[in-house]
Amino acid sequence: MDSARSLEYVLSMQGGEDDVSYAKNSYGAAAALASSKPLLTSAIYSIKLTKGCSSRLKIADLGCGVGDNTFCAVDTVVEVLRRKLAVIEPELELEVFFSDLPSNDFNTLFRSLEEKVNGSSQKYFAAGVPGSFYRRLFPKGELHVVVTMSALQWLSQIPEKVMEKGSKTWNKGRVWIQGAEKEVVEAYAEQSDKDLDEFLKCRKEEIVEGGVLFMLMGGRPSGLVSQVTDHDSRHKLLFTTLMDQAWQDLVDEGLIEEEKRDGFNIPIYLRSTEEIAAAIDRCGGFKIEKMEVLKIADPMNAKQQELMKDPESYGQAMANLAQGGLKPMVEAYLGPDLTRKLFKWYATRAADDYDGNGEL
Ligand SMILES: C[S@@+](CC[C@H](N)C(=O)[O-])C[C@H]1O[C@@H](n2cnc3c(N)ncnc32)[C@H](O)[C@@H]1O
Repeated sequence: MDSARSLEYVLSMQGGEDDVSYAKNSYGAAAALASSKPLLTSAIYSIKLTKGCSSRLKIADLGCGVGDNTFCAVDTVVEVLRRKLAVIEPELELEVFFSDLPSNDFNTLFRSLEEKVNGSSQKYFAAGVPGSFYRRLFPKGELHVVVTMSALQWLSQIPEKVMEKGSKTWNKGRVWIQGAEKEVVEAYAEQSDKDLDEFLKCRKEEIVEGGVLFMLMGGRPSGLVSQVTDHDSRHKLLFTTLMDQAWQDLVDEGLIEEEKRDGFNIPIYLRSTEEIAAAIDRCGGFKIEKMEVLKIADPMNAKQQELMKDPESYGQAMANLAQGGLKPMVEAYLGPDLTRKLFKWYATRAADDYDGNGEL
């Protein structure tokens, strides 16, 4: 099995609805969705459909995940399309495809769908589409609107070079690329270009002429070399310092070898606006109507009240947040026992980092 295929089977947000689930730890992505709503609304208003094709429209959300966020973007799209087409298409029928990797918790998604769709006045038909958005998911010219929210920062695979033990691109002592050797960051950037090219090529086939592709992704402003923009944010610690410390704790306890630690990498790359524009340019067929860098509220600030209480609750909340996005991948690599220990260390390290003066 190739590396991309094998990642697809282990990469997913944590399913279910318990404390470490993505559904309970997606307030960062929720804040991103809220900030991007005005942009999404105007993008959907700008849709230019050819006459005769506007009575049945197809919408896809790629990397839909699970939880309340899943329905947010689609609700906006549905509401705006209905408003825009109310006069000319009073009988408008909408079909929504919720798409994600097969490992996504589609069961929880489908259970909440019934209540979401029928409980709202904006009815639509719904279906789930399992598969990677780095490949074709729909027939040619099938979709009118495609949205992808906070998902494209996930790469299709760890760059192969990064898995070459002992090479300059072997990411020693780190699980991610913030602060890593230049060669490692370059290998990620290369993979990111390749992936975005593939994503756009597939969407170009699937979206009708005049349709809309709306992409919200973890990224960074133009010209910034560092992956993390906001150095005061707890964001920067999530996949960096705390995570590296927790892995080192497993090594120090003698539970894993250094090499095992170094073999684990998080397949996330935060693209700059130039990198995104260049990929769109390379692909052709798309016109950028608008591209903006949105500063998203720190996910930890959204939970501030709860976290202010004491270091332990802060540590636990940080560990829950990290598990919401990473637990399935870590568990596939380390197994359940070591994963539990890793995130216990993570919570301890985060608690140590709590400064206690109300500043998060
Ligand atoms: C941070 S979650 C975002 C979920 C949701 N859109 C939201 O706004 O909360 C990222 C999602 O992208 C999905 N994803 C990552 N790589 C993917 C790929 N290659 N194809 C499809 N989905 C992918 C993950 O499984 C996950 O559900």
